[in-house]
Amino acid sequence: MQAYAKPVIHKLHSGTMNKFAGAAPRQRRVRSEIAGVPVEELVQRFGSPLFVYSERTLRRQFRTIRNAFATRYPEVTFGWSYKTNYLKAICAILHQEGAMAELVSKMEYDKAKVLGVPGQQIIWNGPHKPFDALEAAVRDGVTINIDHLDEVEDLEAIATRLGRPLEVGMRLNLDSGIQPCWSRFGFNLESGQAMDVVQRLVDGGKLRLVGLHCHIGTFIMDPQAYAQQVEKMVQFGYDVEARWGWRMNYLDIGGGFPSRSRLKGVYHAADVVLPSIDDYADAICDTLWRTLKPGHRPRLIIESGRAVIDEAGSLITSICGTKRLPNGTPAYVMDAGVNLLFTAFWYRFDIAMARAIPGPCEISVLYGPLCMNIDVVDEGISLPPLSRGDRLVVSTVGAYNNTQWLQFIEYRPNVVLVTEAGEVELIRSAEDLSDLDRREHLPSHLATRSGMESQPC
Ligand SMILES: Cc1ncc(COP(=O)(O)O)c(C=O)c1O
Repeated sequence: MQAYAKPVIHKLHSGTMNKFAGAAPRQRRVRSEIAGVPVEELVQRFGSPLFVYSERTLRRQFRTIRNAFATRYPEVTFGWSYKTNYLKAICAILHQEGAMAELVSKMEYDKAKVLGVPGQQIIWNGPHKPFDALEAAVRDGVTINIDHLDEVEDLEAIATRLGRPLEVGMRLNLDSGIQPCWSRFGFNLESGQAMDVVQRLVDGGKLRLVGLHCHIGTFIMDPQAYAQQVEKMVQFGYDVEARWGWRMNYLDIGGGFPSRSRLKGVYHAADVVLPSIDDYADAICDTLWRTLKPGHRPRLIIESGRAVIDEAGSLITSICGTKRLPNGTPAYVMDAGVNLLFTAFWYRFDIAMARAIPGPCEISVLYGPLCMNIDVVDEGISLPPLSRGDRLVVSTVGAYNNTQWLQFIEYRPNVVLVTEAGEVELIRSAEDLSDLDRREHLPSHLATRSGMESQPC
């Protein structure tokens, strides 16, 4: 039996092509494979929804970004931003490629240690560094970038315990022309606060400043913002050197390069609105060459997250229900929603169909599985009539989704990696009730069935 489909009226285009080079509304793109593996095969083996990473894409993207900088400046190091994606396999690939670990919590530090990352290959940023973990990290040789004055006191106490002065970095916040200005992390440059803190380090006599860190924000679409940032960081370093003789060994410029995804509210495709990675590398490295003193080549540290991993990740999801809203708009319920796709709140994803589906396209809504009104993945997507079981492939989703996903209402699904050899490896297993159960404790007076039965309804 064929399902009823509401008739749809389509505007006929005739004559010359329109300025967007396509006269008729086109079918949505079909993506039947991910990294060479058929979507249907992946679902048969690992279920739906399913996160799929391409090792080849990840390595290629990392190398492209690294080479853009390494061909322009001699001392470049990448720090892999764990918060962007701390799946072990992903971190291990990036460490193999030579990236340090860039961390912002004790949990991330624990993860890096489990992976065997040596302290000299770790940078610890962020506003929360519990004392014991900070001491362990200092003993381990981790590079610490100070976020606030209480950390200065903690580090001085650790220096006293160790009986030696410590080399530290500090985080700056500054105006690079980007709004909003991320002023809550580190010390402000323009107000003089950062220089006061250097004076405080000098007065304390236990900490020596050897590096500067600054992360101006994320999805920065203007390379000139980095030029301003780098110029201010270099100048600040030389001001410190002029007053106290401390020369900066490194300039850590944070992350923030955009991925090829599309932000909500941005009409054009990424290739139209986004500068290339070479544009960013030019802006940053040209500024370094222009502002650094002859012979001074501080290490340039880049903590790019989103731009490295986003395109390597896709999510397969299946339609589990179809409906029409009261205004006639087709709506589909998928087995993945904002619980797995946190970036849905600001990205307009590239959503492809796993097979060609006949029928006229209509502007439709894609909902996730949560019984929550906010669970909307796309509110205006042109789709042919979908049926239960049809699969969609959502990309680019490699950044921030597998760290910010929620165990809310639903279990989190399998994550697989398609290796360079084309093998499919399970890199994170789907959760089940035991994951929740082993963390919960039922007080004994509630543990018996009779106890439950004695409660009033
Ligand atoms: C200190 C720091 N470094 C690096 C990153 C990675 O940023 P992105 O993913 O925008 O490259 C972040 C993200 O917020 C950050 O806070």
